[in-house]
Amino acid sequence: MTELLLATSNILYFVEMDILGVTSNHSKRVAYISLMIALEINLSPEECVDIVGLSILHDNGFSEKLLYERLKGDHIKRLGDLEQVEDHCNNSEENIKNFPFMTDVKNVIKYHHERYDGTGFFSVKGESIPIMAQIISFADTIDLLVNLKENYIEKEEKINSFLTEQKNKLVSEYILNAFQNVRSNTSFQLDLKGEFLDKALKRNIPYFGKELSLKDLRSISKVFSKIIDCKSKFTSMHSTGLVEKISIMADYYKKDNDEKTKLIIAADLHDIGKLAIPNSILEKTSRLTEKEFETIKAHAYYSRSCLESLEGLEDIDEWIANHHEKLNGTGYPNGLSSDKLNFNSRLLACVDIYQALKEDRPYRKSLSHEQCMVILYHMANDSLIDSKITNDMDIVFAINFKISVPRRCIISPINNKFSED
Ligand SMILES: [Fe+2]
Ligand SMILES: [Fe+2]
Ligand SMILES: [Fe+2]
Ligand SMILES: [Fe+2]
Repeated sequence: MTELLLATSNILYFVEMDILGVTSNHSKRVAYISLMIALEINLSPEECVDIVGLSILHDNGFSEKLLYERLKGDHIKRLGDLEQVEDHCNNSEENIKNFPFMTDVKNVIKYHHERYDGTGFFSVKGESIPIMAQIISFADTIDLLVNLKENYIEKEEKINSFLTEQKNKLVSEYILNAFQNVRSNTSFQLDLKGEFLDKALKRNIPYFGKELSLKDLRSISKVFSKIIDCKSKFTSMHSTGLVEKISIMADYYKKDNDEKTKLIIAADLHDIGKLAIPNSILEKTSRLTEKEFETIKAHAYYSRSCLESLEGLEDIDEWIANHHEKLNGTGYPNGLSSDKLNFNSRLLACVDIYQALKEDRPYRKSLSHEQCMVILYHMANDSLIDSKITNDMDIVFAINFKISVPRRCIISPINNKFSED
C-alpha cells in the first residue's frame, strides 16, 4: 500500500506540473509531517497508515477543468492560489470514497482546510473536526506558508512566530505541542528537505506486512481513473467507458476473475500519464503541430513510469505501456512490433481506440459503431492492430449494445487524422 501510494503521489505531481509548471513535493511533505505528529500523539498504527494515504491524496480534486470553471482561466502562479478553490475539498473527498482505508476517514479530506477556530471553508470548529483533518490542515498550511522544503534551520524565527500566531486559531494547542516535540529532531528537519522523503516515510510508517488484494488494488485504481477522467470534459468518460468495454471483451474471451480484474485496472490507469499533458494540447481543435504530437505521445511513457517500480504489477504495467504500440512497429513510445505485443496489450490497444472514437472530441462528434469499425478494420488491414480482436469486437459490441447488423472488413480510405485517445 505504501509503495503504491508513493508511486501514485508522483502522478498527482503531474497535475501540479501541468497547472503550475513546477512540482513542489507538497503532498509528500504534508504526509511526512502528518505521520510524525500522528505517531507523537499515539494514533493507532492503522490511523498512521491512513493519514499518509489521506495526506498524499488530500488535494487530488485539483484539475485544470475545475480551475478553469472557477477562475475563468485567470493565471495561477502558486500552489497557495489553488488551495483557495473551495471545491477541491468536496471533489477530493468524493474521489476517494472507495479507497480501501483501514479506519473511518469520513470527512477527513473534506475538512482539510478547516481551522480550529471555525474560520475554515465549512465553519466546522474545534474537536468537531476529525483529528486526522486537524493534523492535515495544520501540516498543509505550515508547509505552504513557511515552505519547509528549503532552509528549515534558517527559518526557525519564522516558524516560531507562525506557531505563536496560530495557536488555537489554525490548530489546537495539543497538536501544536506534538509538532514542537517532533520538529526538535534533527532528522525531521533534514527529511523535509526532500531528497530522502520517500525513505523517511517508509522508515516511519507502521508496517503490517499486508499485501494488497486485486480487489483492493481495483478500488485504488478506480480512484485514479476518476482523477484522470476529471482532467478534461472531452475525456470525462474515457476510463469508465474503457472499463465497461474491456470487461465485456474479457468475458467473451473467458478470462478468469483475476485476469479480468487486471485488465480493468489497466483500463483505469492506462492514460494516467495524460495528467502531465496540458489541456491546451489535449483540447486543441485545429491540427496538432509535430511538437504538440510529441508531447501527447509522452503520456504512454509517463503512465508506465508511475507504476513500474511496483512489484507484482509487471503484467498490468506492460499492457499499459503498450497501449499505443502498433503491430508493424510504428507505434509509441517504444516502436515495438507484433512479436513483442502480447494478447492483452493488443486487446487494450484495440478497445482503447474504439472507446476514443465513441467519444466527442474537440474536432469531431462521437462516431457510431459502424463508423468506428470502418476505421478499426482499416487499421487492422494496415497491420496496425490485431484483426481477430477487431472482428470479435465488431460482433461482441454489436450484440452487447444492440446494434442491428455487424459489419465485416469494410475498407475505406481515411483522410482525416484522428486521435487514438
Ligand atoms: Fe487543499
Ligand atoms: Fe494542500
Ligand atoms: Fe493513451
Ligand atoms: Fe486511452
